[in-house]
Amino acid sequence: RLPVVVLISGTGSNLAALLEAARAEDCPFRVVAVIADRDAAGLEHARTAGIPAQIVRLGDHPDRAAWDQALADAVAAHGPDLVVLAGFMKLVGPPLLEAFGGRIVNTHPALLPSFPGAHGVRDALAHGVRITGCSVIEVDAGVDTGRILAQAAVEVHEDDTEAALHERIKAVEQPLLVDVVRRLTSAG
Ligand code: GAR
Repeated sequence: RLPVVVLISGTGSNLAALLEAARAEDCPFRVVAVIADRDAAGLEHARTAGIPAQIVRLGDHPDRAAWDQALADAVAAHGPDLVVLAGFMKLVGPPLLEAFGGRIVNTHPALLPSFPGAHGVRDALAHGVRITGCSVIEVDAGVDTGRILAQAAVEVHEDDTEAALHERIKAVEQPLLVDVVRRLTSAG
């Protein structure tokens, strides 16, 4: 089973879906470590599953370049075949991209190329789109500009709130991400 490292910043519902999928006997991947850039609530999912959980804080490093390198080193220490950004709210720098180019995926709560960045749900709602969704992409040096691997659509309701819409997006995002990770870690 191919080793996967998951990077998070938040509640980790997508991480939880990956951990749940990895319990199946036929699952082609296993989560070998979870790394956060802050004291993310989602780290608890890793601890419960008995998986190494680590925080690499930007503020603990002299500058961004040092943090980029520390993050890449922390990931590389686990020797993953695939790196999954599951609600990781920082841009990854050149060291990680160089070490794992083409083997890093990110999940985003909007239909890219629309509404990239940190507020995909809020921005879609503010624009008044009737349909939004989520995208799983290959990570490149840009902000949510990488090759699209999978997408799913979600209808916006009248009087939707950012929180309610985000919850409905997460409900389709979790299985979509699991599908992509399974596909990328399956032989052939
Ligand atoms: C997810 O919806 C993910 O798409 C989004 O953060 C949420 C994390 O939820 N990521 C971004 O907005 C990245 N720009 P989770 O912590 O419950 O998995």
